[in-house]
This record gives sequence, C-alpha cells and structure tokens, in this order.
Amino acid sequence: MEKKDIDWSGLGFGYVQTDKRYVANFKNGAWDEGVLTDDANIVMNECAGVLQYAQTCFEGLKAYTTEDGRTVCFRPDLNAERMYNTAQRLEMPPFPKDKFIDAVKQVVKANEAWVPPYGSGATLYLRPYMFGINPVIGVKPADDYQFRIFATPVGPYFKGGAKPLTLCVSDFDRAAPHGTGHIKAGLNYAMSLHPIVEAHKAGYAENMYLDAATRTKVEETGGANFLFITKDNKVVTPKSNSILPSITRRSLMYVAKEYLGLEAEEREVHFDEVKDFAECGLCGTAAVISPVGKIVDHGKEICFPSGMDEMGPITKKLYDTLTGIQMGRLEAPEGWIVEI
Ligand code: PLP
Ligand code: COI
Repeated sequence: MEKKDIDWSGLGFGYVQTDKRYVANFKNGAWDEGVLTDDANIVMNECAGVLQYAQTCFEGLKAYTTEDGRTVCFRPDLNAERMYNTAQRLEMPPFPKDKFIDAVKQVVKANEAWVPPYGSGATLYLRPYMFGINPVIGVKPADDYQFRIFATPVGPYFKGGAKPLTLCVSDFDRAAPHGTGHIKAGLNYAMSLHPIVEAHKAGYAENMYLDAATRTKVEETGGANFLFITKDNKVVTPKSNSILPSITRRSLMYVAKEYLGLEAEEREVHFDEVKDFAECGLCGTAAVISPVGKIVDHGKEICFPSGMDEMGPITKKLYDTLTGIQMGRLEAPEGWIVEI
C-alpha cells in the first residue's frame, strides 16, 4: 500500500480530508446497510434536530501501523459500547455494536494510504458520530438519524507533544451530578468552548474541572481523564459518575497492574490532596498520556516534582507500555488489538 505523500511528523491535531467516509441512515425505525462515500459534505433541513437542540454524539479512536507493518485499531468494541450507551441517554437509536466495528474496519481499509507509517509519531484518528437529521421544532427527539465515520491523520493533541502542560482550575462546571458528563454528547463540548478559550487566553493548556456539587473533588479536563502517581508509585484516577469512562484510562489502569506490577486505584480524589502527588497526566485517545507539570488554582501553583521538562518516570513507563501495545511492540491483552 503506497502511503500519501505527507509530512507525517509535522501533523498537529487537525482535520485533513481523506478519501472515504461511512454513512448509514436511520429511517422508518431501522438502520440501513450503510455505504462508503467520497462526499465529505452533509445536506440537511434547516430545522434538523441536531441544529436546533444539539441532538448529536460522537466517539474517537485511532488506527495505527504496527512495527511489523500491519494496520490495527485499539479496542473499537469499547467505543461501540460507549456510543451505544450515549445514544440511549440522548434518546437516539443506538447504532448496533457489530455494525460499528464493521464500519470502523471499512473506513480504515478504504483510507489505508492515510494511516501514518510506523514511527512517524502520527496516527489515523477515526471520528464516529451520529445526529438527528429530520425537522424538529417542538423539543423532542428526532425520528431520523445519520451515523457517520470519517478518518483524519493526526499528530499530538497538545502542541509540543510530550512537554508537560500547565492547567488551571476552572470556575466553570463541566457536568452536573445526574447530568450528561458520563456520555460523549456534543453538548458537553459546546459548553466547554467558553472555558477553554478563557483558559487559553490566560496561557493554560486545559482546564481542571472540579465536581459541580461541592467543588472539592477532581473530575477531568475538557477532553481527557486524570491519572496521578503517588510518591510511593501508586497510580490513582478519579472515580466519578459525571466523567467520561475513558478507554485509555481503563487500559492504563490494567497496564499499570498487569504489565508494570503497580498498585492502581480508582477512587474519589480530593483537590486538597493533588499537591501531594508526584506526577500527573491527562489520558485519552487524542491526548494518549500528556504529562501535567503544573496546576494553577486562582494564582496558587501546584508544581509536580516531575517538573516542566519531561514526563515523570512512572507516566513514561505507562506511556511506553500502552503505545508499545498499540504499535505491536508488546503483546496485547486478548481482544485489545483489531487487525484491519
Ligand atoms: N474525557 C473526555 C471529556 C473526553 O472527551 C475524552 C476523549 O474521548 C476522554 C476523557 C478520553 O476518553 P478515551 O480514552 O476513551 O478517548
Ligand atoms: C478523544 O480523545 O478522542 C476526544 O474525543 C478528545 C477530544 C478531541 C475532544
């Protein structure tokens, strides 16, 4: 397979239009077969449910070229399942999980020339999404939906790659208790645009959101879960019903225990104890693990001992092991790697 002539290692996290995308339609109570298409544009009615009441949700996963030249995806079954749960919460018809995985394979296969080469530092990001497409004017779910997956080659989510980030504690709330924080609804990201623009203006890479009810517990950022490392090398991640169940975080907790022999604990994390951790990282499909060097809480700085120059040593081990599994350098747990 001849790859596209692209400066792969110069890619940031942006949209590059690729050759093929998948489209399926839900009409008269059923999903159709779905097809690959060249057309990257969508035409819909001015009153479409997604345009009026933001009835839309999405997923994110990646395809990789392994060291031995295979094209693989990482745990697409978990994205299929999460999107299923998201759709149910948004009163959308869930897209069947087996069809989701099949569509992922079709899109990667059809865009194989866009899967960045091994060692380039880039990957092919896949964006499954679904939205209400028929006219809706009273507040209610749409009747008709479209499910799509496009692919775009991406580099690091945060400029500077593995350089430690500085975050700020946000005065905004990301998700309410019993709200939609645990699903991947477009509305969660719409509401985060103002806080992220404000954070960027003030020189921060991302927001740390605290729990909306008490503002005492760590939740997540706009696009990634937190991982902390204690001074005695325990991996700790916040437990909350209002954060997204990150597939990367769940994988890293397994990697910490089963590959690195570390203790790994999912529990409530009080903001007060953050200053006592040795390392901090953000984990997600886009972020992989991005180290955090500093968190600023209304002028008060928390500086992690791992510093602002490089990843902390445990974060680095987690990063190397996870990416080793994804790129085929290390043996993967059963079912984690799906070959295209
Ligand atoms: N948290 C939020 C709010 C996200 O948008 C994402 C990205 O998908 C994550 C966490 C990380 O989840 P995952 O590891 O499944 O990509
Ligand atoms: C991902 O990591 O896939 C995400 O969806 C995060 C982000 C780009 C919002």
